[in-house]
Amino acid sequence: MVATVYTVGNFKGGVGKTKIVTMLGYDNAVIRGKKTLVLDLDPQANASQILAKTANIDNIERTVTQGLQENDFSICITPIVENLDLIACDTGFRSFNKYVLKNFETEEEQINVLNKLIEPLKANYDAIFIDVPPTISEFSDNAMAASDYSIIAFQTVIESLDGVAKYVGYQNFMVERYGIDLQIIDIIPCMVEPDDSLDKEILNEARELYGNVVSENVVNYQKRLRRYSSEGIYIQKYNNGNYDQWDFNAHNIFTNILNELEGRKNYLTDEMEA
Ligand SMILES: Nc1ncnc2c1ncn2[C@@H]1O[C@H](COP(=O)(O)OP(=O)(O)OP(=O)(O)O)[C@@H](O)[C@H]1O
Ligand SMILES: [Mg+2]
Repeated sequence: MVATVYTVGNFKGGVGKTKIVTMLGYDNAVIRGKKTLVLDLDPQANASQILAKTANIDNIERTVTQGLQENDFSICITPIVENLDLIACDTGFRSFNKYVLKNFETEEEQINVLNKLIEPLKANYDAIFIDVPPTISEFSDNAMAASDYSIIAFQTVIESLDGVAKYVGYQNFMVERYGIDLQIIDIIPCMVEPDDSLDKEILNEARELYGNVVSENVVNYQKRLRRYSSEGIYIQKYNNGNYDQWDFNAHNIFTNILNELEGRKNYLTDEMEA
């Protein structure tokens, strides 16, 4: 097994990045039964909190900060549910930037700090999903250098679409400057109100700009998805064997996205080899 590494980004805050990372991580593990790691690189630690609640863990002892200090990420892995592990973040990770600049000399070394630490973990997972803060920083540079693919989250508001453009531009710059092997695999609309005409307009604009890189699978605004942020992620099954309808809807869209990613990955790999 060699994990495929995905970073979910957008240089605009609050657009659904963490939602996508946590749901794709959970569903890849729980529904598809694949060994999955979520790596939280955002000092706000939203993904860590959601997954800790999912596992009923009150306090995560070792985070990415300790992993970095000890130069070994295997010491900071927290199991969440079967097949799903987390490397949590904490506010201490804010000083990653300083740490990197102090300890590594060349730019090449500075952007590859996390890449080196993630490499030995890849044999244990099918997929690694990285959550990053919405800033151009050592966090995003290191996440890009460590990833095979970018998934760009966007909300159907115009600032968020600008954030997509900035992200694409910055990624192109990183690929050219450092020779990183990184492709955009999916652009996912989040929190869409299906009946809102402005949402539809912005979705159409995104499709005009980015064609079929924009996902067919639109994540609508769903109260159940918001609830998972405060209660942790779950799927309720009734005694008659049926899933709760709202849980089903919430997980179904992300399972479809995982299938889409698989198909796109195969297509992109074939294209590279051809
Ligand atoms: N499809 C959705 N339906 C309902 N609520 C959602 C949906 N997607 C995200 N949310 C909610 O919107 C808020 C912002 O989402 P999220 O934290 O994923 O954004 P983010 O891009 O990671 O933000 P940040 O830039 O601060 O890291 C959260 O409260 C989350 O629960
Ligand atoms: Mg987030």
